[in-house]
Amino acid sequence: PATQLADVGVIGMAVMGSSLARNMAHKGYATAIFNRTFAKTQEVIDNHGSEGTFIASEKIEDFVASLERPRRIVIMVQAGKGTDAVIDQLIPLLEAGDIIVDGGNSFYEDTIRREVKVREAGLHFVGCGISGGEVGALEGPSMMPGGTREAYESMGPILEKISAQYEGEPCCTYIGTDGAGHFVKMVHNGIEYADMQFIGEAYTLLKAAGLSNEQMADVFAEWNTGDLDSYLIEITSEVLRQVDARTGKALVDVIVDAAGMKGTGTWTVQSALKLGVPVNAISEAVFARAISSSPELREHAQSALEGPDGSLSVDDVKAFTDDIRQALWASKVVAYAQGLDEIRIAGQEYGWEIDVAAVAKIWRDGCIIRAKLLDRISNEYAANNLVTLLEAPSIKAELAKGQDAWRRVVTTAITAGVPVPGFSSSLAYYDQVRAPRLNASLTQGLRDYFGAHTYRRIDAEGAFHTLWSGDK
Ligand code: ATR
Repeated sequence: PATQLADVGVIGMAVMGSSLARNMAHKGYATAIFNRTFAKTQEVIDNHGSEGTFIASEKIEDFVASLERPRRIVIMVQAGKGTDAVIDQLIPLLEAGDIIVDGGNSFYEDTIRREVKVREAGLHFVGCGISGGEVGALEGPSMMPGGTREAYESMGPILEKISAQYEGEPCCTYIGTDGAGHFVKMVHNGIEYADMQFIGEAYTLLKAAGLSNEQMADVFAEWNTGDLDSYLIEITSEVLRQVDARTGKALVDVIVDAAGMKGTGTWTVQSALKLGVPVNAISEAVFARAISSSPELREHAQSALEGPDGSLSVDDVKAFTDDIRQALWASKVVAYAQGLDEIRIAGQEYGWEIDVAAVAKIWRDGCIIRAKLLDRISNEYAANNLVTLLEAPSIKAELAKGQDAWRRVVTTAITAGVPVPGFSSSLAYYDQVRAPRLNASLTQGLRDYFGAHTYRRIDAEGAFHTLWSGDK
């Protein structure tokens, strides 16, 4: 009797892989599953086998043989060595035209390298960024696939079907060749760092103004009904309300004040530095986590450094709260502008031809940075030929309106000794990019003075060098 072949396969039955495989099965795909250690595959079958059609294999050869051709295989294993190991095992088992998708959090340069290797074996390689965590993988993540158009024709429909849907549109689109998808996912995470840093600064200021955790939770819940409507603002309210089961205190007050990170924020900044794209709001967020996790530095500085104690006496708490809301929104817009600029420039540099409007569109749901703002950003990029998001008609108008509040918040914070690196560096970027002249003419003068690096003039073409009085 003819045995049923699977439509798609997933390798790696840990949290993300099993959730994604179940998502596929729920959507009606016969799903082949495999894990290096069979126990995890068995667990999926035992606990979820009735949710759809799974074809489980103990051996990778059987897994490959259980798939319809061209085979479509999604790798969901530990990024790095795990991904390379699985690719190496698959290559000799596959046939021309088969498609390998890497759904892990891979660094885009690794994806570029792997794509070459897989292509040379006559196969397709798709580097697919997936955001949304465990729930997203199970119920519909935001998906950012990069690879050949041909591979997308075969794989795209499945990815679009299992992705989140925003008003009927899939949160998945073809991003570009080789590393484009993982690059976009990387920047998504960088923006996520910035978003969380801004929320943290708003929290610090509200707390300094005397609000209780409950009151702050109410403020974030209210913000979530307006312009700031987003997943991260929504869950901030819930985190602030959470009571610690062990002590009965607010959980946020018993969590150690040191932020962890897995590296995607750092990659975003490293890549921006290489491309020469300024993403200072994002880098401040990465460095803020680094400072939080530098206990020795903080301990020494705490006992050595003088300054205001970070408390605020605010007369009109309601007005101050609204100022913070506007500072948060404006800073958020700057971080998105920087991240999308990094994507736009990388697209040019790597020949990816990335459609920035489409990227914003697939972030509207499923992913961690999903926000009402992204619908507007997507429309603005689609309607205008933007160099920067900040020049988009509806965005620049709102920034013009909100900037007084933004400046007040930064001024108040700095005067009181409350660190707001995200808010202040976003504001500095806003002022830098709109300034007719920065301080670079002096920098060039200095460089020419000490190193004869030459400078350009405003009134003549060419490179000039001055014989400075200090020259011998
Ligand atoms: P999560 O989805 O929970 O974040 P992860 O830590 O990213 O998971 O990846 C864990 C998965 O990668 C597991 O399925 C693991 O297989 P085992 O269950 O056998 O440990 C898989 N994995 C890690 N390294 C691997 C390798 N070298 N070859 C094959 N699979 C590997």
